[in-house]
Amino acid sequence: MADMNPPVENSLENAAPNPVDISVDIAGLMAEIEALAGISEAEPPVVTRVVFGEADLRARAYVKALSREAGLSIREDSIGNTFMRWNGLDPHLSAVATGSHIDAIPNAGAYDGVVGVLGGLEAIRTLQRAGFQPRRSIELVLFTSEEPTRFGIGCLGSRMMAGALSPGEAQNLQDKAGRGLEDLRRVAGFTGDLASVQLDAGHFNSFVELHIEQGPLLEREGLQLGIVTHIAAPASLRILIEGEGGHAGAMLMTDRHDALAAAAEVILALEAAAKSTGEIDTVGTVGVCEVFPGAVNSVPSRVRLETDVRDTDGARRDGVLAALKSSAAEVAARRGVRISFETVNSDPPATCDGAVLAALEASIADSGHSARRMVSRAYHDSLFMARLAPVAMLFTPCRGGVSHRPDEYASPEWIAAGVEVLARTLAQLSSQSFT
Ligand code: GLV
Ligand code: MN
Ligand code: MN
Repeated sequence: MADMNPPVENSLENAAPNPVDISVDIAGLMAEIEALAGISEAEPPVVTRVVFGEADLRARAYVKALSREAGLSIREDSIGNTFMRWNGLDPHLSAVATGSHIDAIPNAGAYDGVVGVLGGLEAIRTLQRAGFQPRRSIELVLFTSEEPTRFGIGCLGSRMMAGALSPGEAQNLQDKAGRGLEDLRRVAGFTGDLASVQLDAGHFNSFVELHIEQGPLLEREGLQLGIVTHIAAPASLRILIEGEGGHAGAMLMTDRHDALAAAAEVILALEAAAKSTGEIDTVGTVGVCEVFPGAVNSVPSRVRLETDVRDTDGARRDGVLAALKSSAAEVAARRGVRISFETVNSDPPATCDGAVLAALEASIADSGHSARRMVSRAYHDSLFMARLAPVAMLFTPCRGGVSHRPDEYASPEWIAAGVEVLARTLAQLSSQSFT
């Protein structure tokens, strides 16, 4: 890809000396991560926490209780984004924020998102124990539904916070059982006007998200931390393929307009389009394939696909989508089926901020940990926070690059390094005076 790792411009002014006594209670934090993993819709070690489900609500209660113990004040908005605040010495200054998500896709593990929420809390407690007094408030944010599991769209809470999904669009969202977002959020206890979720650019001074890498590079290279400079642009399409059904024994092959056979070609066309860029950062996946009527002796008449296409270069990502659509049109004409597309989301990539990156890099230098710059091919709430505030992300390694699986694992040493650097970075950002 093009040069994604240019030198950082350091525009920090009056950066405060780091507090000397940074001591992460890693045993306590690992116990909290384990306790949160136990709050799941599935049997341990599988973690499943779908937004507004019973496990999601219990997990939120657990995080809020820990935050109250740490003396943080709590605000929840009408979509359930939760802001846990350590008041700074100057209440008029915008807050420095950190955080991530605790919802988990079906059959997930214990660390995705959670390391940024509980690790963010531990970073705050670490600074409290060190006797640090922030000048700006420090806010821990738990974002609603970073995962697209329930409503088909990722980063729901941060997307609405950034104004990238309107209240009207949100109100039209439904889950697979046909339950609407309005109904589900009210039952979960989140009422009030959805328009109030959107925050002004400048509401936060800066935002730093700690997250597991979800890829193999850091572990493979024996590094303790990754400094994310860019977050790839995700797009998701729903594809409906309508052919003609019939008896699997009696319908002649020459007469068929098999929707699933057409879908197979469309899936392979997406794979070919994603590979055709020759870039490591281009990826395309069909993760959902629903076949109607789904009987072994019935020719499929209808197929619904859900695709996920990403790239660090938004224009290149759009080129893959265009190639997919043109291949699908050819398949439709040749096979006599109808193929239609619905765009679920098509988001631009995000670039991390030079000053926040510089604060991270200074903190890494102070801590003595090893690190490299990298891009995030997964999306994160930072993708949308970047529209509201200067943003950067810090990655910890995860074993084998495995994520979105029950065997996802990050070691206490890796997590402790991430929390230490996050704490030092929050200390710097909450001490200095750029607006
Ligand atoms: C987030 O979980 C993603 O799919 O990148
Ligand atoms: Mn995830
Ligand atoms: Mn995540």
